[in-house]
Amino acid sequence: MKYGIVTGASKGLGEGIAKKMLDKKINLIAVSRTENQEFRQAAANAGVQYEFYPCDLSSVSDVSNVFNEIAAALFNREPETVYLVNNAGVIEPIDLAGALEETAILDNIQVNLAAPVLICNLFLKKAEETGSQLYIANVTSGAAERPVHGWSMYCSTKAAINMFTRTAALELNNRQSTSKIIAYSPGIMDTGMQETIRSSTQDAFIEIGKFREYKEKNMLKSPGEVGEALVRLLLDGDVENGRVYYVNELL
Ligand SMILES: NC(=O)c1ccc[n+]([C@@H]2O[C@H](COP(=O)([O-])OP(=O)(O)OC[C@H]3O[C@@H](n4cnc5c(N)ncnc54)[C@H](OP(=O)(O)O)[C@@H]3O)[C@@H](O)[C@H]2O)c1
Repeated sequence: MKYGIVTGASKGLGEGIAKKMLDKKINLIAVSRTENQEFRQAAANAGVQYEFYPCDLSSVSDVSNVFNEIAAALFNREPETVYLVNNAGVIEPIDLAGALEETAILDNIQVNLAAPVLICNLFLKKAEETGSQLYIANVTSGAAERPVHGWSMYCSTKAAINMFTRTAALELNNRQSTSKIIAYSPGIMDTGMQETIRSSTQDAFIEIGKFREYKEKNMLKSPGEVGEALVRLLLDGDVENGRVYYVNELL
């Protein structure tokens, strides 16, 4: 059986990925603080299993408890293929280094970097123990590759997840593991995260005008389309370990 685990599945890109997995008859394990109310019916229609695990990814103990529970239940079923998508992310704090709020700094590191690394670490171990084929996609951003005025935490944590992905892939290749890990850069999408960006201030985020224009000029991609492209890539199976895939090369 095939299973997809998607963090931040409740809305935005995560919702797009989760819905496409259900369409493709992949059993879904959704993780976020709130539940997407459409998944249960969509899973029933597709004839696949659906489980929701509430989890606050900004809490180390929540991540540890919930993902150990998920991994124990999942790998006991001896799944043929597991698709893990670390999608949940936060843009905040949007402010200048020197004015950042301490809790927001730590939450950003925890949700965008520590949680996906902890989850990857656990799943890579379990997949090797059980012989399941594991594909991991860590959702990243173009901000991983350029400094953006006001986004020091977001740029830093996304850059770090790219390097974690590349390094873990190097290690997997060197030990001829069948597990694969990639990063996925989804481009700019019409989601809640973009609303947060547009509602920041010019002082905190110098490029705000450009981002408001993206919305006004309908330049934001739909998260459904971007999610579909990732699911297509993963199901194809022929992914290049450690590569950062950009949505535009997949559409
Ligand atoms: N939108 C863009 O233009 C854009 C561009 C580049 C990269 N990305 C990346 O794409 C990914 C998805 O972003 P999005 O635009 O879809 O964002 P979004 O609409 O704000 O959705 C974020 C998702 O993450 C979950 N989440 C946030 N904090 C969480 C926490 N503490 N614990 C558990 N879940 C949490 C939310 O679920 P709950 O609120 O239910 O917990 C929600 O499902 C992120 O990694 C983001 O960095 C987005």
